Amino acid sequence: MRSTELFKEAMELFPMGVNSPVRYYSPEPVMFQQMYGSKAIDVNGREYIDYSMGFGPMILGHANKLVSNYVKSQLDKGILFGSISENEIKLGKTIKDAVKSIEKLRFTNSGTEATMHAIRLARGFTGKKYIVKMEGGYHGAHDYALIKSGSGTMTFGVPSSAGVPDEVSKTVLIGQYNNMESIEKLFKEFGNNIAGIITEPVLGNIGVVNPEENFLKGLREITEKYSSLLIFDEVITGFRFGFKGYQNIIGIKPDITTMGKIIGGGAPVGMFGGRSDIMDHISPAGNVYEAGTFSGNPLTMSAGIATLEQLKGMDYSKIDNYAATLEKELGAIISEYNIDATINRCHSMFQIFFNKNKVIDYSTAIASDAKKFTKMFHMLLDKGIFFPPSQFETEFVSFAHSKEDLENTVNAFSSVLKCL
Ligand SMILES: Cc1ncc(COP(=O)(O)O)c(C=O)c1O
Repeated sequence: MRSTELFKEAMELFPMGVNSPVRYYSPEPVMFQQMYGSKAIDVNGREYIDYSMGFGPMILGHANKLVSNYVKSQLDKGILFGSISENEIKLGKTIKDAVKSIEKLRFTNSGTEATMHAIRLARGFTGKKYIVKMEGGYHGAHDYALIKSGSGTMTFGVPSSAGVPDEVSKTVLIGQYNNMESIEKLFKEFGNNIAGIITEPVLGNIGVVNPEENFLKGLREITEKYSSLLIFDEVITGFRFGFKGYQNIIGIKPDITTMGKIIGGGAPVGMFGGRSDIMDHISPAGNVYEAGTFSGNPLTMSAGIATLEQLKGMDYSKIDNYAATLEKELGAIISEYNIDATINRCHSMFQIFFNKNKVIDYSTAIASDAKKFTKMFHMLLDKGIFFPPSQFETEFVSFAHSKEDLENTVNAFSSVLKCL
């Protein structure tokens, strides 16, 4: 088969044939040739309903017409200017207007860069050393964040990466998500030297885990008490649940916010922003260094502008309702076949955990039967449904998913869960 031939070539080139670890699964990952709307087509010509949506960014669906047109027209004007351009201002303004805690911002090329710079900024601004992150929270693949991380690190069982110097790991303190006591304990011991807390407001890299009442408020209060900064990593949640951040839904104002994914409309992007007095510490005005050859490039910005322009007028309840119906239907199938599984959903993102208990944090997520998930993933693939290939990722619904997709997904699930 063409996919097998191509994957052999990929294996010669890239470690395990891929350029990002979660894309690998045995015996070989699906090799796609094209995507449109809610659909993905592999090199053998098979079509799938996609629930990975590029791991989140493609909220409008693949190959969205306006996004393509904006990018095409930018192509003829130049891809990289190496100077400030109007597109950056346009996208920056749109984000600032939508997310009130962001007074100033910088674009980067990935969520990884955004959180790395946000953490450095928090340290530079406060003059303090420690950063608190949540067990199972994922903030990208840099040394400050690859400690007790989620996503691929959990899938492959290496929650803390080799190669991160001990000296760096020791500056990162691990708290338990949804457990304010664990955070208070850290502040009691290290409080005067904690630069900030970084957390995804809704965990999306150990599957989906919602915040329990008052947890995020507790983080806001304790950071204020100790003059530390609160960083919300909204790389997944930014513009996912409405034309705003998750912070606007819950009414909590972080000091720094990071975003990525959706704001680039599928092009490589990241952003960190927040209070002006903090952001002014960034070079060249300030002494916290941050830079990027491709940051804010006009091509990425045009994809982001076209995406946010459309999202502004969208009724997000459409994708929320799709996910809610799927949750209800799948829940009924799970009950009918008496399967030990539970579904977590936040608006248009969801995950099925093969776990008879509720999943509320890292330790309850890791107790899930990841092997069973992998089995389900492959069976769904056979039926033309493409999920992200790990128990510890998240399914995303887009505006391109249709009623027919929903029916086909439920039917596929019904026969897969029956066999499981
Ligand atoms: C919450 C969160 N932060 C940061 C990142 C890193 O973003 P990127 O993969 O663009 O570097 C991710 C990626 O999935 C993420 O989910």
